[in-house]
Amino acid sequence: MEQPLSAAARAELLNGLPALLLPWYDTNKRDLPWRENRDPYRVLVSELMLQQTRVEAVREHYVRFLRELPDVQALAACPEDKLFKLWEGLGYYSRARNLQRAAQAICEHGFPQTAEGLKKLPGVGEYTAGAVASIAFEQPSPAVDGNVVRVLSRYLGDARPAAELRKTLAVELAPAYPAGRCGDFTQSLMELGATVCVPSSPLCLTCPLLGGCRTKSDALPLPEKKPERRKERVTLLLFRAGERVALCRRESGVLRGMYAFYTEERALTEGEIARRLAAAGASDAQIGLPTAHRHVFTHIEWEMRAYPVSCGGREAEIAAAFGVTFYPLAKVREELSLPSAYRWALRLFGDRAGAD
Ligand code: ADE
Repeated sequence: MEQPLSAAARAELLNGLPALLLPWYDTNKRDLPWRENRDPYRVLVSELMLQQTRVEAVREHYVRFLRELPDVQALAACPEDKLFKLWEGLGYYSRARNLQRAAQAICEHGFPQTAEGLKKLPGVGEYTAGAVASIAFEQPSPAVDGNVVRVLSRYLGDARPAAELRKTLAVELAPAYPAGRCGDFTQSLMELGATVCVPSSPLCLTCPLLGGCRTKSDALPLPEKKPERRKERVTLLLFRAGERVALCRRESGVLRGMYAFYTEERALTEGEIARRLAAAGASDAQIGLPTAHRHVFTHIEWEMRAYPVSCGGREAEIAAAFGVTFYPLAKVREELSLPSAYRWALRLFGDRAGAD
């Protein structure tokens, strides 16, 4: 590895970025729906959706979301079920809740126009505040996400851990922001990271920064320690009564507030399930063979076993004892927002149920 650069040399390289990146961005930028205009509401929605989610996954959700909720007032007043349905497939539902709370705050106090003001909105951290302030309000506010850390760690040949680099770069980049093109500069860094300076096998020969790059490969950034994931054994009971299936709302933990099949965060034996059903006055219910499935959240991994349970005419007893409500299968498939940790299990009710 080469010697670390002096602060002055780093500043010179960073200050030279707009002249290299903006012409490249002008001809190479992807046509993305949130680039149609710079309406602050549209920018805020896109940046919250893009947190931890790939552009391709966001694209269609974004268009649908904006069609249904075209302005901040519509979002502020949206019923939660509809909001979650629009968010379905993007994961991390707390972002949807935060976005709505942010919209409510904006309706009340106006749209903050600086990174400092934006950071006070729910769900808006350093990165998102910088992105919205620069893209929607032309502020010289850097937005340093994983893509930008990757691009600049390579460009500067800086092998420090990503978390440290993120903080340093957020400060060092601000003076490089070009008046009048702050939003484009933010997006050009993201775009380079997403399309050229990709995590492995970057397309260095097509890169506008190739001449000054101190890495010219994927040797940086150094791999980070993977987050520790806690493994949990989880049992699902898939109650069925004819064409109706039972859901509850998660009261705590991961996916709090979301629809769910009845869930126990431990491994229940078939005998234990049978005893629970008997205690509920539903010994006529039939327990089917379990299906195993794994779902990975950021910090938790669920090893699930899902048992189909035919209610044998005892759905009222089961609803009361297990705290579930029965819904038509078609409604669960088409209208309710069932997170992907549970959605896979719909196919266990038959082909039609799991068809999406
Ligand atoms: N990732 C985060 N924000 C983005 C944006 N505005 N354009 C493309 N990718 C992004």
